[in-house]
Amino acid sequence: MLKDLLSRCDDWVNEWVVNHAHNIRDLRKYAKLRVPRPMFHYMDGAAEDEATLDRNCSDFARYDLKPRYLVDVSEVDTTTKVLGQTIDLPLIFAPTGMNRLFNNDGEMASSRAASEANLIYSLSSMGTHSIEEVAEVCDAPKMYQIYVFRDRSLVQEFMDRAKACNYAAMCLTIDVPVPGNRERDLYTGMTLPPKLTLSSWLDFALHPLWGLKYVTSKPFQLANVAHRAPVDSDDVISLVGYLQREFDPSVTWDDAAWMTEYWDGPFAIKGICCADDAVRAADMGASAVIVSNHGGRQLDYAPSPVSVLTEVVDAVGDRVEVILDGGIRRGTDVVKALALGADACMMGRAYLFGLGAAGYPGVTRTLDILRREIVRDMALLGTAKVEDISREHIRDRSEL
Ligand code: LAC
Repeated sequence: MLKDLLSRCDDWVNEWVVNHAHNIRDLRKYAKLRVPRPMFHYMDGAAEDEATLDRNCSDFARYDLKPRYLVDVSEVDTTTKVLGQTIDLPLIFAPTGMNRLFNNDGEMASSRAASEANLIYSLSSMGTHSIEEVAEVCDAPKMYQIYVFRDRSLVQEFMDRAKACNYAAMCLTIDVPVPGNRERDLYTGMTLPPKLTLSSWLDFALHPLWGLKYVTSKPFQLANVAHRAPVDSDDVISLVGYLQREFDPSVTWDDAAWMTEYWDGPFAIKGICCADDAVRAADMGASAVIVSNHGGRQLDYAPSPVSVLTEVVDAVGDRVEVILDGGIRRGTDVVKALALGADACMMGRAYLFGLGAAGYPGVTRTLDILRREIVRDMALLGTAKVEDISREHIRDRSEL
């Protein structure tokens, strides 16, 4: 009875949000209203002064787009091929941890939306739904993201489970040798699992739909690692504490080479910030590099992905695929990255804002917004196909 009422209220609010969110910034605004403070700031925040977080977005403004007119754009085709898969937009769901913190349906909602849009969904090792659960709802191509846990045999287990569930690609994130210093989490007291202190009860009371769903659902778990590196309610710990306890800081390129060989399929290295590391990844046998600084959540003042994209493309673009991850909030951001030579873009916060704002329909709304923007921007640019977008369509304002 209560659950019924709750779910009807939730549907009603979701519908309102979807009808009133016209861009990704709007979805962020509604996510902030609907998700309790510690969880919202965990998603929205980044390391230290958040300089890198800001630049990931603002560095796109360094570039102008140069339209060409009187080109037939009556049909704009946004399909593209990356990681051995043909997808409907040059957009990939980034691996993001703990989606149930933002909406109780968590990774199930995000992966279902990816599936319906025929986009690649990446599941994080820090996910709150398992490799197997996601495979059940997501028919679109899937990528699994690995962190290297101290228990090294877990990496092999991840790859075996992902293979068995028909995941198309593997991604190794290399930029977490130690946890980043995320100060918003210190102010809000973000813990794993979310701790029910007096102030968090108060916060949950201010977000009743979130709070009631959370307490009436199955307990929070890092579903893929729970059997080897659990967090349970007797074990309230900070995220930094968990990462320090479980992640192996001694991982090197030799380990990456072993994983690439063991996986024996499309393998992406995520966390590339310069041409030299991109060359190492290509030499080691990776099939894709993901230019990323972890959404500004690791080393503050690491360069924004868009500012190092051309150096990476020029160094390895003819040997491996180059994917840009970071700062994507608009269709023009995607088009600019493609013009600079990226094969596709990844979005993290853009879909998490949708998830926090309105669950599954919210993620679908993120995709509708970005799809419409990309199609319109391509038409306005005079490019009917993704491969038509080139460096002729962009200029760097700093060279003016
Ligand atoms: C983070 C890790 C878990 O950025 O990916 O929070």
